[in-house]
Amino acid sequence: MCGITGYIGYRDAYPIIINGLQRLEYRGYDSAGLVLYDGKEINLAKTKGKVSELLKKFDSEASKKGNLGIGHTRWATHGVPNDVNSHPHTSQSGNLVIVHNGIIENYDTIKKELINRGYTFHSDTDTEVLINLIEEVQKNNNVMLGQAVQIALNEVVGAYAIAVFDKTKPDEIVVAKLGSPIALGIGKDNKEFFIASDASPFLEYTKDAIYLEDGEMAIIKVGREIEIRKIQDDSVVDAEIQELQMNLEQIEKGGYEHFMLKEIYEQSRAITDTYRGRLLRDEAIIKMAGVEDNMKRFLNADRIIIVACGTSWHAGLVAEYIFEDLARIPVEVEYASEFRYRNPIISEKDIVIAISQSGETADTLAAIKLAKSKGAFVFGVCNVVGSSISRESDAGAYTHAGPEIGVASTKAFTTQITVLALIALRLARAKGTISSSDFRNHIYELEAIPAKVEALLEINDKVEEIARKYLLSTNFLYLGRGFNFPVALEGALKLKEISYIHAEGYPAAEMKHGPIALIDDRMPVVVIATKKGHYEKVVSNIQEIKSRKGKIIAVVTEGDTTVKEIADHVIEIPETIESLSPLLTTIPLQLLSYHIAVMRGCNVDQPRNLAKSVTVE
Ligand code: G6P
Repeated sequence: MCGITGYIGYRDAYPIIINGLQRLEYRGYDSAGLVLYDGKEINLAKTKGKVSELLKKFDSEASKKGNLGIGHTRWATHGVPNDVNSHPHTSQSGNLVIVHNGIIENYDTIKKELINRGYTFHSDTDTEVLINLIEEVQKNNNVMLGQAVQIALNEVVGAYAIAVFDKTKPDEIVVAKLGSPIALGIGKDNKEFFIASDASPFLEYTKDAIYLEDGEMAIIKVGREIEIRKIQDDSVVDAEIQELQMNLEQIEKGGYEHFMLKEIYEQSRAITDTYRGRLLRDEAIIKMAGVEDNMKRFLNADRIIIVACGTSWHAGLVAEYIFEDLARIPVEVEYASEFRYRNPIISEKDIVIAISQSGETADTLAAIKLAKSKGAFVFGVCNVVGSSISRESDAGAYTHAGPEIGVASTKAFTTQITVLALIALRLARAKGTISSSDFRNHIYELEAIPAKVEALLEINDKVEEIARKYLLSTNFLYLGRGFNFPVALEGALKLKEISYIHAEGYPAAEMKHGPIALIDDRMPVVVIATKKGHYEKVVSNIQEIKSRKGKIIAVVTEGDTTVKEIADHVIEIPETIESLSPLLTTIPLQLLSYHIAVMRGCNVDQPRNLAKSVTVE
């Protein structure tokens, strides 16, 4: 989704903004733009394509001047990706400049009205409408920029994070948020300020940040404290300054060719960080504040509804198997986008678990707001600390994956499963649905997973070899059963996302009801056939694929001999208990899609059309 980065202070804004835009590239975008202001001239450049294209446009030193700057990466919603539709946009007079992340839904009506009042438009965007509306309000009411922004925003319907400045006020930027994230970095003695969609663009300058809440706006003036107000009623907000815990190494590639590969390799550490302090092996207990504090609610729950999107939804499906198996609580897993619009039946005895890496996914956020309004208890499982979903939830547990930059989610998935397994085990213990020896066994096994992940990563070269054989395939089928059925879905999603090869995930037993018709000697089929997961039945499925000449890439438990005889390729994973096996089986599938995408020359970290965090519907 769109990314915003801005600076106002005493330094040259250009390198800060460019660096910031590059840090936000992971969000996914199709065009980029930047405006600089030195108090006299506005220097604005924008282009379809990547930030590298934008750099070419700023080739003369003069155009890089200015202590105020705002940059933007655009993920097209209204209007195709081209130079004109890229941000920033200026108002008719040329005095006001804006960047915007989100959608103004009633832009068409406002646009018609503004055209009647003599405005002309150059782009197809809703953003150009918004900046002219702000200008019109300013003109008619003779108010300061902040007030004009506020009045205009009260007229629009939609979602936004915006940053606006006025040429006549070179020391001020106005920022507002509803639905899309925005973080403000505060420099020493208020001599400089940073604005960004997440804190990564300003990490090296300050650790003091404010995350604007929905419906808030900030008036940022050099030399003064940030003034935060509610957009709706102008009341003053006393915002909390947070100390950022992220560091620079976490958001750099650290010697890996791609963020995705780095993040695949980080999984052992990320899983450890996620259970650290929660899984106490020696005492054989699990402690999770968000669960302990609300144990009664959990124990009285009629059911758990999991809402999520994309990879997080797949983690939710794995959790369904784990919760039902261990804690015997009925679970429903819903696409947040469907749930929010289908008038779902929700009661006060329901627990809604929202899973989201970014904590900003618009549909998931809307789904929990709906659930809360019906009295359900909302528990958030997010990676990004302080994100909207984590703030909106009644309670929650963070995954401690660290920043995930690659658009294709990897370590977020395995850490989400880790948190959800911890919760399921804790509840199972509290409900008495697991024996103490079984509980202990699960704890030991979970604790041993990071070392097994580490060992498993040794297969990287082998997976690369397999990838080479299938890089020209046009279709892939992924099969799994039980706990590993969602892993099949996730494996197929990874391949689609980054290599643009069509792939489908299916429960292995469903193959006979359709996908089997697709199998011929050109169809690679990835089958998860671990020892404990309905093994014999999956082996029969493998035989069926073999008889139709499909190419079999099997993920098996170490030491397996049966599948080795039939499959074209075998990838061995260390043994573990079945409910935790997705933490291992998913890793070769991540590597397979990674290598295929690299060999096909795809942009692995920023696949076309995709965004890391989808903050619009
Ligand atoms: C986008 C990302 C996916 C992610 C999904 C849900 O589609 O590209 O990788 O799984 O959003 O995101 P969330 O941040 O809510 O987990």
